Amino acid sequence: MITQQVLLRDAMRRLDMTRDAFADRIGSRRRALDSWLLPDESNEFRAMPEVARRFVQEILANAAPRVEVATQSVYPSDNPLVPGAPLRHLLSVDQFSRETAEDLFRLADVMQPIARRQKVTRVLEGAVLANLFFEASTRTRVSFGAAFCRLGGSVCDTTGFTFSSMAKGESIHDTSRVIAGYADAIVVRHPEQGAVAEFARATNVPVVNGGDGPGEHPTQALLDLYTIQREFSRLGKRVDGAHIALVGDLKYGRTVHSLIKLLALYKGVRFTLIAPPSLEMPGSIVDRVSRNGNVVEVRDSLASLADADIVYATRIQKERFAEESIEGYGAAFEINRALVDRVCKPDVVVMHPLPRDSRSGSHDLSADLDGDPRLAIFRQTDNGIPVRMAIFASLLGVDKLVQRSMRDAAWTPPVHIGPEDSVLD
Ligand code: CP
Repeated sequence: MITQQVLLRDAMRRLDMTRDAFADRIGSRRRALDSWLLPDESNEFRAMPEVARRFVQEILANAAPRVEVATQSVYPSDNPLVPGAPLRHLLSVDQFSRETAEDLFRLADVMQPIARRQKVTRVLEGAVLANLFFEASTRTRVSFGAAFCRLGGSVCDTTGFTFSSMAKGESIHDTSRVIAGYADAIVVRHPEQGAVAEFARATNVPVVNGGDGPGEHPTQALLDLYTIQREFSRLGKRVDGAHIALVGDLKYGRTVHSLIKLLALYKGVRFTLIAPPSLEMPGSIVDRVSRNGNVVEVRDSLASLADADIVYATRIQKERFAEESIEGYGAAFEINRALVDRVCKPDVVVMHPLPRDSRSGSHDLSADLDGDPRLAIFRQTDNGIPVRMAIFASLLGVDKLVQRSMRDAAWTPPVHIGPEDSVLD
């Protein structure tokens, strides 16, 4: 049986309702609904009455089937995802519709007790992941590896060109075909746009894009959208009609390229783009996402964050610069506590894909917001595990086995992972 948290989150997503509207619909108090949605290990958690569970199941059974065509991806894709069909490779967010992204999030909800180390599973016992990272990474490489291990699989890694045979002139085709003989799934990060798709063409083993140069970072965007949905669920907001501000290096920041395309699957979204001169969002992406009643506004000052629901900051990617300079990216672009207090709404959510550049003079997202409940950056990184677990379970066809394979974990993790994580309690 699925957990009450998965059932309730799935119901709100499918009915497209805020928590307040859903509590009204099922005739319960918002406070009761909040307590049913908490993790089992929370002191405030309450079991949902059986009569309420049956009522929610009945509402879902009678809900109108979802309309797929209206929310197809912004870009045509060679490898689109059909609801219920297996995912072959994951190369771009263009493969997703709103419905297939939300199906993945439902599976991520199922993974939450494992990601929080309350439960364990061995559904991928015997499977091997090859993690090939030809560019620097901390969270993407380690979280893909941890997600695979938490499903019961094992991980082989290679990092950088220096210790790979590509340094001896081996082609992407040969590398990919060789690794496919060793592993059941391959995650690749590569500095060139399109290189991960080239890996995928050389193998039938599933390949996941862990970031291809300034191109895309689809799994980061999926975990960001999953985080936005969870933050909005807590705050009583919906993605449709939200105001999302993207700030920083919008030219080379691949996470924002993927995220804005995913968000454009929703309706009536207002995007505010704030970038220094020469680091603006590519025009082709701006043109494509201006649809579904979504509007894009290009601004040059953080004063435009005044009524944003999400402020998504990004690092300046100096390592990718050709002729660009960061002249003009001064203190006026820095997102810090004083700015958020002065300019933003009290319930704004501040996000960043990380890493943030903490060196003096970088003017990246300031550490003075750490511990502030408006800052969601570590909730984002935590959400990377269930989302990446859901991706592997879909790619390897074990998604239906996870729920009934779960056992209690034999050890007790800390209630809060970080010292400041109790802030939302
Ligand atoms: N967000 C992200 O891609 O981080 P890493 O570069 O550390 O993997």
